[in-house]
Amino acid sequence: MSDALVTAAHLLRCPHCAATLIVEPSVAVCAAGHRFDRARGGGVTLLAPGAQLPPGDAPAMLEARDAFLGAGHYGPLTAALAAAVPAATSVLVDAGAGTGQHTAGVLDAHPAALGIALDASRAATRRAARAHERLAAVACDITAPWPVADGAAGAILSVFSPRHPEEFARVLAPGGTLVIASAADDHLHEAREPLGLLGVQPEKRARLHARLGDAFTPAALEHVRFTLDLDHRALLQLAGMGPAAFHWTAEDLAAGAADLPSPFTVTVSVTVETFTR
Ligand SMILES: C[S@@+](CC[C@H](N)C(=O)[O-])C[C@H]1O[C@@H](n2cnc3c(N)ncnc32)[C@H](O)[C@@H]1O
Ligand SMILES: [Zn+2]
Repeated sequence: MSDALVTAAHLLRCPHCAATLIVEPSVAVCAAGHRFDRARGGGVTLLAPGAQLPPGDAPAMLEARDAFLGAGHYGPLTAALAAAVPAATSVLVDAGAGTGQHTAGVLDAHPAALGIALDASRAATRRAARAHERLAAVACDITAPWPVADGAAGAILSVFSPRHPEEFARVLAPGGTLVIASAADDHLHEAREPLGLLGVQPEKRARLHARLGDAFTPAALEHVRFTLDLDHRALLQLAGMGPAAFHWTAEDLAAGAADLPSPFTVTVSVTVETFTR
């Protein structure tokens, strides 16, 4: 089996000194001798001196995400992400890739592209490293400088994940495409009250544009909107993979779902916005 992290080595940079990394099966090392042991299963953790991984999503959330996305419920979103990434893209960085399922779907649609999945959760990067043979996985803090070389990416994906506009601008090659997916106002609105899901902050889009500043030009906006008829199991996976899982236990969520009809219909409503650099 090919080793995507070895293939992607020239696109990474040492988090201590920014030198290029050489990646071997069990270790990544830079010219100055900074060494980073690789995890069994393919990923590597790249952190600045003294830095720690932020908590990221808990293993139970990733389990729920894996099951829910694996059942194909968000297939139309994956397809919209794939369509938003230009055909000629050779390197795709997914910042906050989670289990890597959307990333893998986008790579399927771009047969020559190499992907790099960044995530704070080692449980996530373990899954992402297995999600696609052309996907390299790096555990890091995407709210800090990324261990990725300047101009390395032809496209960056940011799907429901923390954003770092300065790093988007540094890592994206000139002419590259930034794809940002965010929950629209009515995303999962039917499930909010019964399952205690969080509402969407107003003016999110205006704030996003303001934060991205002059480095990016809005290029396209697609609104992906469809309904899903979910049985209780799938509904609890959906609630359990999102931010509600930081506030409620699995038992709280199950109690909230108990009185709902099965199947229960929810509206998925997500904006996929592209920007060029
Ligand atoms: C809502 S999930 C989205 C995952 C994926 N993009 C998807 O749509 O399936 C957000 C992801 O961001 C990661 N994350 C949160 N804070 C982070 C940080 N500071 N650095 C890196 N990843 C982070 C979490 O671990 C989680 O996997
Ligand atoms: Zn170094």
